[in-house]
Amino acid sequence: MVCVSKNKSYLKSQHLKIIGQKTLRGKVKISGAKNSALVLLAASLLTDEKIILDNVPLLTDIEKMGNILKNLGVKLHNKDHQLIIDSKNISIQELPYELVNGLRASFFCIGALLTRFGEASIPLPGGCNIGERPINEHINGLRALGAEIIIERDVVKAKLVKKKSKLFGANIRLNCPSVGATETLIMAASLAEGRTVIENAAREPEIQDLCQMLNKMGAKIYDSGKEKIIIDGVHKLHGCTHKVIPDRIEAGTFLIAAAATSSSITVSPVIPNHLEAVLNKLEESGSKIIIKGNSISIKGNKIKAVDIKTAPFPGFPTDLQAPFMALMTIAKGRSKITETIFENRMNHVELLNQMGSSITLKNNIAYINGVKRLRGRTLLGLDLRSSAALIIAALTSDSISYVYGLEHLDRGYENFELKLSGLGIKIKRQNTNNVNIIDEQNTILNKKDISEIKAA
Ligand code: UD1
Repeated sequence: MVCVSKNKSYLKSQHLKIIGQKTLRGKVKISGAKNSALVLLAASLLTDEKIILDNVPLLTDIEKMGNILKNLGVKLHNKDHQLIIDSKNISIQELPYELVNGLRASFFCIGALLTRFGEASIPLPGGCNIGERPINEHINGLRALGAEIIIERDVVKAKLVKKKSKLFGANIRLNCPSVGATETLIMAASLAEGRTVIENAAREPEIQDLCQMLNKMGAKIYDSGKEKIIIDGVHKLHGCTHKVIPDRIEAGTFLIAAAATSSSITVSPVIPNHLEAVLNKLEESGSKIIIKGNSISIKGNKIKAVDIKTAPFPGFPTDLQAPFMALMTIAKGRSKITETIFENRMNHVELLNQMGSSITLKNNIAYINGVKRLRGRTLLGLDLRSSAALIIAALTSDSISYVYGLEHLDRGYENFELKLSGLGIKIKRQNTNNVNIIDEQNTILNKKDISEIKAA
């Protein structure tokens, strides 16, 4: 059953009205990668010189991370998509829970603060409601580098071991290739004494982006993008200018939306090899893909059912599992989608079933029987990527849908509805006023919207 939060603040928020069964046509500009920008902001704490970041996406997650940095005394100046970050005067203090709550990446500051200032105090992080999301790999790795860490009343307190003025290099083998832990440890090791080797490191493109920026700042990091990363600590890092890589997950979401609506669109700029696993599955499911330089064009076709299994990069990204499931709901035949990264990332299954799909869930494996079409409904998005999946499902449906819970969507998609309307979709963001009615799906309904749904 869909849970509606007891906190009524969402009632003041907004929702999307989406008219289904339209095809997408044209080009869409892909924004900078959220997950890169977040960690690059954390990395800017490693120097007292200015960092100029270009192509920063305008997202609420980035705003939250900016507020965390400001709380530490960092000066931020932003103009359009450029962010100038000045971390010269930082005062190390415990970050307030309200600031880090809901932003997993807030915890990634710990390695940078600890290695530059010798101490850091960060409350346990939040993030999307998709599973346990432990931090043991971050903590074990930092301890191996010479940190003393205690967790007191849900606050992680880290400092250097007695009489040491720096972290020192170590050999670390991660039990699982955690993206965040790999990033935390790379940042911590970049100013440590001596060589650090991280084995079973994550290989996501965002990690390579981090290493590229750190190397521009004077770090000595070798083999990022491989399972074994080597970092030779340096004494000081300096400022630089860096452009955030394009968001492969945003690009993948638009390509999947095009496949689901038998549309032809082009996404750019992108780095096509960041999307290889996704493009292979789109082709297997019937779409035609053309890659030209930094753009990818897709021509949707009849949708065939294909199985996917999420995996760390270069495998199929967990962040596109929900959007791909929306596509499979209307494929011809049966498909199986296995989530292997997070244990609770199937929030969308019940919502898609409310739209008429036929999905059975067993232990993180979704068995999907393709149906001819979905029905427009009123739905409450429960996490970032499942909200995107609902919007894709709404695009394919035979009537109007209303998608609530946009605070999730706005965390990770810049101007999503504007980009979709630029592709010819009838989609509108509306203020959610007068929402005191809960429908049979337990989602919230606007009185005005109800009459429209009934008329649809
Ligand atoms: C990052 C991304 C997120 C993406 C995920 C996997 C950011 C801000 N977020 O999240 O969008 O879905 O990678 O590609 O970059 N784990 C442990 N111990 C740890 C850390 C992780 O057991 O200390 C487990 C997690 O529970 C999860 C798996 O490792 O099952 C992957 O998590 P991780 O790669 O760390 O994801 P994040 O860095 O949080």
